[in-house]
Amino acid sequence: MSSDLGQPDRNLALELVRVTEAAALAAATLVGKGDKIAADQAAVDAMHIVLKTVRMDGVVVIGEGEKDEAPMLHNGEHIGDGSDPKVDIAVDPLEGTTLTAKGMPSALSVIALSPRGTMFDPGPCVYMEKMAGGPELVGVLDLDKSLTENIGLVAEAKRKNIRDVVAIVLDRPRHQEGIEEIRAAGGRVRLISDGDVSAAMLAASENAPVDLLWGVGGTPEGVIAAAALKCLGGGMIARLWPRNDEERQAAIAGGYDLEAQMTQDVLVTGDDCFFSATGVTDGDVLQGVRYRGRGASTESLVTRSRTGTIRRIHARHNRDKLAEYTGERYG
Ligand code: FBP
Repeated sequence: MSSDLGQPDRNLALELVRVTEAAALAAATLVGKGDKIAADQAAVDAMHIVLKTVRMDGVVVIGEGEKDEAPMLHNGEHIGDGSDPKVDIAVDPLEGTTLTAKGMPSALSVIALSPRGTMFDPGPCVYMEKMAGGPELVGVLDLDKSLTENIGLVAEAKRKNIRDVVAIVLDRPRHQEGIEEIRAAGGRVRLISDGDVSAAMLAASENAPVDLLWGVGGTPEGVIAAAALKCLGGGMIARLWPRNDEERQAAIAGGYDLEAQMTQDVLVTGDDCFFSATGVTDGDVLQGVRYRGRGASTESLVTRSRTGTIRRIHARHNRDKLAEYTGERYG
């Protein structure tokens, strides 16, 4: 992936878009069917098939889980055709499995790639506390400060009145106190039922309707959001959030610092990260898969940290031809 200074080199993100498109098209056949496991499986299968054709020597760092429960795209799996570059891979073939099953907004398929050894491996920790927002918030957010203080800092950095600051938060009982604090500080809250990767992307987007993502969500989603924000130019901080003493002890034994605040540049180090996301259901960040006759359209966001170029790729897919070529995978 490295290049002589000034020489454009291969942009792997342009290959990754085929991977997230395939996963999104496969998952989309199950939107609204009430079966989140089948939707996830369809996305995993399709992502795996395309990903293994990419010219790279990849290791899945953030995947579907441990090998025993995840036959494909499990943590530690080697994927790609085995040739250079050597990369770490983070995948979430279907981010928002329940959203997909219920036909609700903002489900995505996502993947991020960076050079080998640059992605944070969360080990035994399932959750992290996260804050994320646009470029104005880089270096501003601080998990050691109260939410009240952070809302004030966001207002100041974005030159807004506090009453116009909107935090996007997963609707979970664990967030109730924080939600009340944000409101008491003068801010507003947009609650979502799932999908904090797309929420982080939304908070970092230009002219965003929300200013800040806050809350405790999955560590895999945290690393993927960090890769997205590195490429999109947003700011993020996160801290591991063990669910119980057993997880805390396992993390300490594994050498994890539970006090450390990690930015997007710690979660994914270096400056050569590639990212692609394709919408499954319609959302604020991406349109979902749409059908017309035997055609299907997708919208993807494709970007890389080194150049900061952000591409929106609209694709029209011919389902008859895809069926001939791949079998019935895309419905
Ligand atoms: P899935 O796509 O695996 O269902 O995850 C969706 C999600 O909402 C993530 O975006 C978020 O990080 C995590 O689940 C939150 O976990 P929990 O539902 O346990 O609070």
